[in-house]
Amino acid sequence: MRVVEVDVPPADAELATDRLWSAGATAIEERDVGGRLVYRTILATDDDVSLARLGPLPDAWTVRFVDEPDAPSEAWRDFAEPIVVNDGLEIRPAWLAGGDRSDRVVVAIEPAGSFGLGDHPTTRLSAGAVWDVVRSGDEVLDVGCGSGVLSIVALQRGARRAVAIDVAEAAREATVQNARSNGVADRVDASCRPLADIDGTFDVVVANILAPTLVELADDLCRTLAAEGTLIISGILAGRHDHVLAALGPLRVIETVECDGWAAVTLRR
Ligand SMILES: C[S@@+](CC[C@H](N)C(=O)[O-])C[C@H]1O[C@@H](n2cnc3c(N)ncnc32)[C@H](O)[C@@H]1O
Repeated sequence: MRVVEVDVPPADAELATDRLWSAGATAIEERDVGGRLVYRTILATDDDVSLARLGPLPDAWTVRFVDEPDAPSEAWRDFAEPIVVNDGLEIRPAWLAGGDRSDRVVVAIEPAGSFGLGDHPTTRLSAGAVWDVVRSGDEVLDVGCGSGVLSIVALQRGARRAVAIDVAEAAREATVQNARSNGVADRVDASCRPLADIDGTFDVVVANILAPTLVELADDLCRTLAAEGTLIISGILAGRHDHVLAALGPLRVIETVECDGWAAVTLRR
């Protein structure tokens, strides 16, 4: 098991955990080591992939990788709770699904080492936006699919097909598995293809990825968006994403929603 340790000054605690959640952590352990905070988690088996997912880090932070024989504690599973996104939609940890009745659509997620259990504000905001914009028969592109949660929400809302891509193999596997357990596997095309290799255009493109990656992918996000299509971006900090909107220049903002310091923005041509 490859563990990532991020060593930060105490003042950066919130920033560091936000960064790790966004990079795909499903559980984070905090240790106080001589006045510094060390956050430990699992991201990818390949260190370069983990570093790419973390993105550029402040100079005051140090990153180390350590091999550990045992898997980290799974105790976080006992604390996971269903997330009510809106009146019609709930995202539920797969191990809590079933049994009780809900008049909402329930998307059951097993993250299995990928991001997207619904507990992070950016997933909640993106899922709500997907729910609002997807129309029956839409073709959807989910960039940085993680657990596949946003593709599954789109398909449950009536999308005809979702193309789900992610740099992480664990995310591709989790998306296939979650699509299967939610009964939509025949309509999801999950892969690790880069966005640059995706042909055609989509009615809805959603990308919940950190800001530097959104800027990097901006041209391809615009290219893959149909003329009348809607782009949803998240993974960006509230009030601090003008540079991302500038990179998406040809598109105009339709709506911005915020939660706990994070934002999701809906854009059209
Ligand atoms: C914040 S998670 C979002 C997961 C899920 N879509 C959600 O909303 O909960 C971002 C995902 O983007 C993936 N990712 C990062 N850079 C990427 C890139 N250049 N192309 C595709 N996926 C990328 C990460 O592996 C991670 O699974």
